[in-house]
Amino acid sequence: MSGFDFDSCPERRGTDSTKWARFAGRDVLPAWVADMDFVSAPEIMEALRERAGHGVFGYATARRQVLEVVVDYLARRHGWCVEPDWVVFTPALVPCLHGVIRAVGAAGDAVLTTVPVYPPFLSAPVLSGRSVVRVPMAWEALRGEWVFDFDALEAAVTPLARVLLLCNPHNPLGRVFSRAELEAVAAFAQRHDLVVCADEIHCDLVLDEGARHVAFGTLGEDVARRSVSLFAASKTFNVAGLLCGYAVIPDAGLRGRFRKALAGVANEVNIFGFAALEAAYRYGEPWRRACVEYLRGNLDVVMGAVASMEGVRIAQRPQATYLAWLDVRALGFEDPCAAFEAGGVGLGDGVDFGAPGFVRLNFGCPRGRLGEILGRVREVASCQRAENVARG
Ligand SMILES: Cc1ncc(COP(=O)(O)O)c(C=O)c1O
Repeated sequence: MSGFDFDSCPERRGTDSTKWARFAGRDVLPAWVADMDFVSAPEIMEALRERAGHGVFGYATARRQVLEVVVDYLARRHGWCVEPDWVVFTPALVPCLHGVIRAVGAAGDAVLTTVPVYPPFLSAPVLSGRSVVRVPMAWEALRGEWVFDFDALEAAVTPLARVLLLCNPHNPLGRVFSRAELEAVAAFAQRHDLVVCADEIHCDLVLDEGARHVAFGTLGEDVARRSVSLFAASKTFNVAGLLCGYAVIPDAGLRGRFRKALAGVANEVNIFGFAALEAAYRYGEPWRRACVEYLRGNLDVVMGAVASMEGVRIAQRPQATYLAWLDVRALGFEDPCAAFEAGGVGLGDGVDFGAPGFVRLNFGCPRGRLGEILGRVREVASCQRAENVARG
């Protein structure tokens, strides 16, 4: 017993929740967007109450203590000693993808990423006037792992490519890439003179006890100089709505161009976000550990349930995140996401991740509700199988 209650969650309908508003008025359980149906850490709630009690909510600039907490956290948790100057606060990480892309090269250049991937990795380059080069991840059957396909990356890269978007831990595959894998990514980037944007938002949600997150910026000074690493407390502590994250950019020139690209567009952090970030990093570790343990239990439930669903498959147990990547191609749906929604469960659509035939299931919720979600997934899958049989 952790002393924290992950088994219940206050009603979120009618609370301006993006996750729940999508299906308002319908009997659809949301398991799509990546936020959790858990109350955040008590210390964060206390910090927010204190901030709210102050009653003055003007524009926010981080106090020295917030910056110190970030620097200390990166050193303590991820073994990365960063200079305070390298840290750029930002309300959210998606704008940073745009910031990095716009800070490097010019319109008409190319941005590389692997698929499947978190949808803004595919849309940000295009919205910033770049082309996007999608390289599928490969299935390594012997190791039973999703891996980078370096032959395909080499074949896809052109002199127009300036940026590689890296998601580690990986959303939606749940991979925690090893040091050796990341070193190979870094060598690839060096060979082709690419800036690497390493989105590490899920780095504190490693569920696999045998895996350890390696921060891309720790791979050496040369590697760090061509990198922008993105972090936030938002996923780990379920505070995404408070809008506070940060980029770590060791190279001063790149940092300056990044700031310029976002100036006036996405520079103001929410004043509550700073309070939450500081409390999370200072006092949130017991809650984080308990949450990871609970999510590990939820993942056991997901894996057990899916193993007994014909036509639904999870190729690799996610090592991190609270997201499971379900392969439902065998069921032959025309539109899997729509079919599951009609069956009362709102999942992430694989099409948006660059992988039709897959859906993403968010298991960051009380276990009782997860049971209901999985029950509905099972029902939709078995109806579809019955229909397939009837059709011959
Ligand atoms: C890999 C990744 N990056 C970024 C985000 C979103 O970050 P933000 O809300 O700070 O823009 C998410 C949310 O799911 C994510 O999974």
